[in-house]
Amino acid sequence: MLERRVKPLAESVQSKFVEQCDLGQDDQIEATFGKLAKVWDNVDFVIHAVAFAAKEDLEGHFVDTSRKGFALALDVSAYTLTAVAKAALPFMKDGGSITTLTYYGAEKVVPNYNVMGVAKAALEASVRYLAADLGQKNIRVNAISAGPVRTLAAMGISGFRDMLKHVADKTPLRRNVQADEVGKTSLYLTSDLSSGVTGEVIHVDCGYSIIGM
Ligand SMILES: NC(=O)c1ccc[n+]([C@@H]2O[C@H](COP(=O)([O-])OP(=O)(O)OC[C@H]3O[C@@H](n4cnc5c(N)ncnc54)[C@H](O)[C@@H]3O)[C@@H](O)[C@H]2O)c1
Repeated sequence: MLERRVKPLAESVQSKFVEQCDLGQDDQIEATFGKLAKVWDNVDFVIHAVAFAAKEDLEGHFVDTSRKGFALALDVSAYTLTAVAKAALPFMKDGGSITTLTYYGAEKVVPNYNVMGVAKAALEASVRYLAADLGQKNIRVNAISAGPVRTLAAMGISGFRDMLKHVADKTPLRRNVQADEVGKTSLYLTSDLSSGVTGEVIHVDCGYSIIGM
């Protein structure tokens, strides 16, 4: 299903390189970057837009999260950033930019977001540690904290529609953020426009995160 959307996107930038890769499997990451080495010798930027948790862990009470569910969410949604950064490193010889996607549920309690909030908190901390590690290689690492956007992953969160309505009613801009607004910030983070920015979590949420009451 994803391939149907990703292939035309790749073609639009004259690329034939589209690979399926389960980032939960080190051998698949290695194989994918091995194939990449045959077509590209340099990578300027990486966008990490990956998250997963079991459906039962995105509803009800956080206290009920199982050990297995916790490990899965943290592995796929947080550790994979470090795994991909490590694999991309040999290709980023002239420096570059790594950007990931996070959410406000890392900072504050959001109903039903549960274990994903804990995973995003680990992801945001990983951004800072990776930024410190890779800065000397002129590789910048940042996160975009996006407001809720109707996507496949988001629809798996119980009560997501209510969340959209709540945010639209309460944000300073009185609306939900659009996917292309998140895209525009990732363009900023991957380009030289943000050459002095690393280790940051930038909110692209129509201002929702500044509201206290
Ligand atoms: N949609 C929102 O409201 C919202 C808000 C803030 C942050 N985010 C974050 O944006 C990122 C992208 O999510 P989205 O909302 O665009 O949904 P999406 O469903 O389009 O993207 C999630 C992606 O994760 C991939 N994925 C899951 N497990 C994987 C694995 N083991 N290996 C490789 N890829 C795997 C899926 O294939 C999918 O492409 C996620 O990190 C998500 O948490 C989304």
